[in-house]
Amino acid sequence: MGKIKKIGVLTSGGDAPGMNAAIRGVTRAAIFNEMQVIGIRHGYHGMINGHFKELKAYSVSDIIGRGGTILKTARSMEFMTEEGRKKAYDNLKNEGIEAVVVIGGDGSLTGARIFCDEFPGIPFIGIPGTIDNDIYGTDYTIGYDTALNTVVEAVDKIRDTASSHNRLFFIEVMGRDAGFIALESGVATGAEAIFVPELTNQAAELKDFLEKGCKRKKSSNIIIVAEGDEEGGAMQIAEKVKKEFEEYSVRVSILGHIQRGGTPSAKDRYNASKLGYYAVEALLDDQKSVMIGIKDNEIVNVPFRKVTKKHKSIDPADLLMADILSI
Ligand code: F6P
Repeated sequence: MGKIKKIGVLTSGGDAPGMNAAIRGVTRAAIFNEMQVIGIRHGYHGMINGHFKELKAYSVSDIIGRGGTILKTARSMEFMTEEGRKKAYDNLKNEGIEAVVVIGGDGSLTGARIFCDEFPGIPFIGIPGTIDNDIYGTDYTIGYDTALNTVVEAVDKIRDTASSHNRLFFIEVMGRDAGFIALESGVATGAEAIFVPELTNQAAELKDFLEKGCKRKKSSNIIIVAEGDEEGGAMQIAEKVKKEFEEYSVRVSILGHIQRGGTPSAKDRYNASKLGYYAVEALLDDQKSVMIGIKDNEIVNVPFRKVTKKHKSIDPADLLMADILSI
């Protein structure tokens, strides 16, 4: 393939702090290499509906420290249909866009893989962007570090109230399919128990823990629950506990979208910039259908096929460690 002259960049799925740094990285690296850059607004929805806007080097000034995504994002149902993808292809062709960089999570990269199988003429490069950190093939995803720190700060604050009132708090954190946020925030805040989607039968263990009278031993108890847990959310688990253990003063806190916003951490700004830069390098190397990730501190190019077929989840040994450290 000859040298690419015009590329598109978009963010898709849930926004994540650091996405702007990646957009900046892609834009500046591409312009340095004499490519024209088109920002595709509103993710795949914008690709289908022609929401295109040229990005110059100055268009991405002063965004590296901002949360969210200046390109906006969406979860497009239409892109899941053949018809929607055909419309998107026609729009890219009409606009003269020869390659696309997609910044997003599992679903967005799956969309990219399907599109590339149908329309191999337009290379796509992926960048992992999700606070969930659940993308196979990369140790790092954009936004996870910032989200984790937000959760830790919030849980520390709740701990103050929990200790002052001798309460048992259930705190729900994000993570539909993977318990990374729950596990790492739980360890980092010394949580007494952690519920993750990867494990079953955790309710029985909790019952055991409460029966042993954890209340008498500690002045506060924090249980972190990942939203995707099989037992239901923090609210459902707390309701059951309240009925069975009336002696506990139980409260629930659902952290929600506070976890997705805010100023990106230094790590998220740096890594996202790097992924953006290397996405353009990959295009210059004639690569396509790969996600640029970070594995053992090295930049790696992982085929979409692998990224979207395999699942990354926490190591249960880490939960055992968490249990032991919280005795
Ligand atoms: O994938 C990121 C994430 O924040 C998940 O942790 C969460 O389940 C989901 O997005 C929430 O999505 P929405 O903001 O569309 O409700």
